[in-house]
Amino acid sequence: MATIESILKETRIFQPAHEFSQQANIPNFQAYQLLCAEAEEDFQRFWAKQANEQIFWHKPFTQILDDHNPPFYKWFSDGKLNVSYNCLDRHLATQADKTAIIFESDAGEVIYSTYRDLHQRVCQFSNALKSNGIKKGDRVVIYMPMRIEAVVAMQACARIGAIHSVVFGGFSSKSLHERIHDAGAVAVITADEQVRGGKHNPLKATVDEAIAMSDVSTVKRVVVYQRTGAAIALNPERDVWWHDIIRNSSKECDPEWVDAEHPLFTLYTSGSTGKPKGVQHSSAGYLLGTKVSMQWIFDYKPADVFWCTADVGWITGHSYVTYGPLAMGATQVIFEGIPTYPTAGRFWEIIQKHHVTTFYTAPTAIRSLIKLGADLPRQYDLSSLRLLGSVGEPINPEAWMWFYEKVGQSRCPIVDTWWQTETGCHMIAPIPGAMALKPGSCTFPLPGIFAAIVDEAGHDVESGKGGFLVIKKPFPSQIRTLWGDPERFKQTYFPEDLNHGKFYLAGDSAYRDKDGYFWIMGRIDDVLNVSGHRLGTMEIESALVAHPLVAEAAVVGKPHEIKGESVIAFVVLKGKYPQKEEVADITQTLREWVAKEIGPIAKPEEIRFGENLPKTRSGKIMRRLLRALAKGEEITQDISTLENPAILEQLKNPS
Ligand code: PRX
Repeated sequence: MATIESILKETRIFQPAHEFSQQANIPNFQAYQLLCAEAEEDFQRFWAKQANEQIFWHKPFTQILDDHNPPFYKWFSDGKLNVSYNCLDRHLATQADKTAIIFESDAGEVIYSTYRDLHQRVCQFSNALKSNGIKKGDRVVIYMPMRIEAVVAMQACARIGAIHSVVFGGFSSKSLHERIHDAGAVAVITADEQVRGGKHNPLKATVDEAIAMSDVSTVKRVVVYQRTGAAIALNPERDVWWHDIIRNSSKECDPEWVDAEHPLFTLYTSGSTGKPKGVQHSSAGYLLGTKVSMQWIFDYKPADVFWCTADVGWITGHSYVTYGPLAMGATQVIFEGIPTYPTAGRFWEIIQKHHVTTFYTAPTAIRSLIKLGADLPRQYDLSSLRLLGSVGEPINPEAWMWFYEKVGQSRCPIVDTWWQTETGCHMIAPIPGAMALKPGSCTFPLPGIFAAIVDEAGHDVESGKGGFLVIKKPFPSQIRTLWGDPERFKQTYFPEDLNHGKFYLAGDSAYRDKDGYFWIMGRIDDVLNVSGHRLGTMEIESALVAHPLVAEAAVVGKPHEIKGESVIAFVVLKGKYPQKEEVADITQTLREWVAKEIGPIAKPEEIRFGENLPKTRSGKIMRRLLRALAKGEEITQDISTLENPAILEQLKNPS
């Protein structure tokens, strides 16, 4: 309720500027409504038309949606295509010399790659993968820095029909191990080191550790890109250098034509249990989603210089770095470093230097940049910008206003894009030439996306009331299954009690205002959103209890000025309750432990120790009380079912 009330107070509204609408792909609200009406009349025909227009088909499809076995939907399933062909070869006849990637390294070195060059690099690496025994259907884990080579590795997998699974370079060896193991990967592509903000992170050593853990005998090859030249261990039977294997590879490689439903990739994300989920995407439906959203939401124009700041380790980096922009034949910036190095003006400097027109980033980055230099954007020439975008978490109206006024100089619309790893592309987001914007609202669903807010029984709720965000009809870019766990896929996303398993349950709560605008309120499950990254509370709890000192742990989120949400852990130690002077040391040990088990992003901001946790008589931890304690709120809730009320005092006043 508090959330609804606070956002209801937001009454500012920004009409699209005439100059923007005039040149926009969808120039007004009526044009948007027309597309929606077309989709409403026959959503399958609507998507079939898009798929025919947007995708190069090696063999055209005749079947649109196969819904015989819900929720295992198939789109365009008798068609054949290759995603890498659609992203690269397709542009060679018309714009081989256009810059595809403007790469800027952490230290500021710039490398340009044209479509011709990128195509050659991808072909060469595809041939190298093939001669190392990697073939269609094989799973390949990619654990790489943000460089052109990361895109080349992903595109090469797509070219030969191998299924990539990118693991963010900040994940620990244990997380990497779990992902390699779950996918049954035959190869890992990595680098000696990653460099971000001047700091070196040893990727290859982490891969070695991950493979040395049990059960990953599937890995036959580790390909190492030499980023820094640091000394690393090479296993002669298993490891090869990137530069060695491409040396004699041809720069031409016929694409492997795959079925529309052939898995393009899996990407692991957090859910309500301790085990990350391998979200599996298709080839054609996913590609189609990234392409239409580039045109509708990013209003893509051939002269654009597009910059999405996300790492390829997350879905945003898949859809709006590796696939969407290349499928459109765009010029894009790829940046290896971090926003604050060597100065807090780095982002603005890059925009100025490369004449970026479309800038897509996360609220957490915006908030940290406000803190470090609210006036800094004024010192740079940001006049090339024409569109701004936000993703990953709700953007608070103050950050929105700053972004709009200081970065976009009140000229550039902001597209606040709501979507998920599972949806593959934008689902609810403004069409910038067509819609008035309200700071903090992601506005309306894309044409062909039947988003709604429903109650527990699956009935629509009236405007102004919160409920579950669902998507009522299948859409091409949606998750196909969870790798190796179709049952969990079904239960998590298509629960039987919501219209007999027919609605896609996003896991977010939301409401619509009187004008029909969507406002996202937050997750309904035990998933935290820290700096725009999803973390399962159960994952962090399992990591904590795996430490020999810990008997029990419960993790909740607490609002955080920059990260959006931060991790607070309540811990019961095995021995006795810690003495005051021991607390700092144990806290430090446990924070480091979580960083090692999962990755530094999961480190608890704060750890509070208790002799016990607040539980019901049946032994269930009362998380709502812990959430209130974490926020420092007075407990006004009903605690009559609490077995041990005295514990609240102890957890309230951390020693
Ligand atoms: O809670 C929503 C939040 O991020 C979740 C999806 O996280 P992930 O799969 O990691 O993908 C992030 C990048 C697409 C959603 O369930 N979220 C994402 N974008 C927004 C958002 N919440 C509010 N507004 C957004 N624009």
